[in-house]
Amino acid sequence: MKDQLIIFDTTLRDGEQSPGASMTREEKIRIAKQLERMRVDVIEAGFPAASNGDFEAVKAVADVIKDSTVCGLARALEKDINRAGEALKGANSGRIHTFIATSPIHMERKLRMTPDQVVEQAVKAVQWARQWTDNVEFSPEDAGRSEPDFLCRVLEAVIDAGARTLNIPDTVGYNLPWQFGELIRTLRERIPNSDKAIFSVHCHNDLGLAVANSLSAVLNGARQVECTINGLGERAGNASLEEIVMAVRTRQDQFGCDTRLDTTQIVPASRLVAGITGFAVQPNKAVVGANAFAHESGIHQDGVLKHRETYEIMRAEDVGWSANKMVLGKHSGRNAFKARLKELGIELDSEEAINAAFARFKDLADKKHEIFDEDLHALVSDEATVQTPDRFKLVSLKVCSETGETPHAYVVLSDHGQERRADALGGGPVDASFKAMDLLIQSNSDLLLYSVNNITSGTDAQGEVTVRVNKGGRIVNGQGADTDIVIASAKAYLHAMNKLFAGKERAHPQV
Ligand code: KIV
Ligand code: ZN
Repeated sequence: MKDQLIIFDTTLRDGEQSPGASMTREEKIRIAKQLERMRVDVIEAGFPAASNGDFEAVKAVADVIKDSTVCGLARALEKDINRAGEALKGANSGRIHTFIATSPIHMERKLRMTPDQVVEQAVKAVQWARQWTDNVEFSPEDAGRSEPDFLCRVLEAVIDAGARTLNIPDTVGYNLPWQFGELIRTLRERIPNSDKAIFSVHCHNDLGLAVANSLSAVLNGARQVECTINGLGERAGNASLEEIVMAVRTRQDQFGCDTRLDTTQIVPASRLVAGITGFAVQPNKAVVGANAFAHESGIHQDGVLKHRETYEIMRAEDVGWSANKMVLGKHSGRNAFKARLKELGIELDSEEAINAAFARFKDLADKKHEIFDEDLHALVSDEATVQTPDRFKLVSLKVCSETGETPHAYVVLSDHGQERRADALGGGPVDASFKAMDLLIQSNSDLLLYSVNNITSGTDAQGEVTVRVNKGGRIVNGQGADTDIVIASAKAYLHAMNKLFAGKERAHPQV
């Protein structure tokens, strides 16, 4: 019998700490449901003490998720732990994850605390969290740069206080695989009560080693890995869930453990997270990149046709790439549409939501001959965007673009239900549209990123536009999809503006 490797997904917490990746409560619920469908063991839904919005999001996830444990992060402070405990009250299975830094540099320069004070606060925090739940996880932040002797001391004390998962973070992505594996082995061997807890790891990717470090830790006895979809996360990100899970699954000859994940849900999860956050997946990304299973060279194509395993170590369908790509067209009915959404694991909450999505599907089918799975994903995520009560809505957009003339955009927006109009000239049709909209919105923001990707191939493909804007240090992303890329751009811009104007300030857990 192999051990179970617990998959702890922190896309909704550490992933959300990527600048611009902040998610609304509804978006978090959609991602959490997909993680549950994938059979992720633990979902870290957020940091409830950060803001009321974060508290509500963790609470909402805890209330709807039934099969995965829902976790809330808390600094080693009573007030944070109480917020996490309150947010998780409705969970079928809840976990409080509390942490305090243990490296010399963090203790001296950030916390301004002595090692004795840190041990005392860690123990108190775990005891306090135990009053809310038996399921308490403790992390010595910056463990990767902490002294092993001190780590042993803190960890022994928190196990005695009732922590049942000990998470060892390489917070700044400084460790090398052999060194990090050795650290996990040392801790397990030297801490006298280590058998009472599960060792977990949480690796950042600053040197591109997050997955390698996590796997090395697993070989040395870690039985929980913290990771994120598409490797999203603070700075260079976290270990990517899809790479960890598929490495362990594909190399069962090396690992004494396996996960209980339904790997066919990986690609849908990756798409959902990329769509919601606007962090596109690079084409050559392992497992979930568009080229991950594409064979360009003739020799490779020939080999794969003769015998798939000549060049493929995993099957594309095992991670959720669908073989049957063309699905629906203009004559498809509501039932076929609903059935395909179900096959794709897309759940819409109500009949009204299905009807609205179906109406959008029909509009799209009028413009585009063949509707692919990718179009359906975009259409439904557009639908979810539309469902949130937005301040700004696009009523109409007309752009005149002619050789030798300056492009001119005429826009009508609804602002709190009131129609307002403006027009502007610009360097191109998209520039003119953004300028016209900004005359009405007066956002005072800077555009950091504008990118267009085709969702499928062909000149009638939908364009998916991502914009990232910054207003006084607050960064948000917006997405929009349409067969007309100028309209897709306007939708993306308004999506970002609506987030910006709805935004609430939130604290960062590590500050
Ligand atoms: O990177 C880190 O140290 C963290 C902790 C809060 C676990 O995210
Ligand atoms: Zn982290």
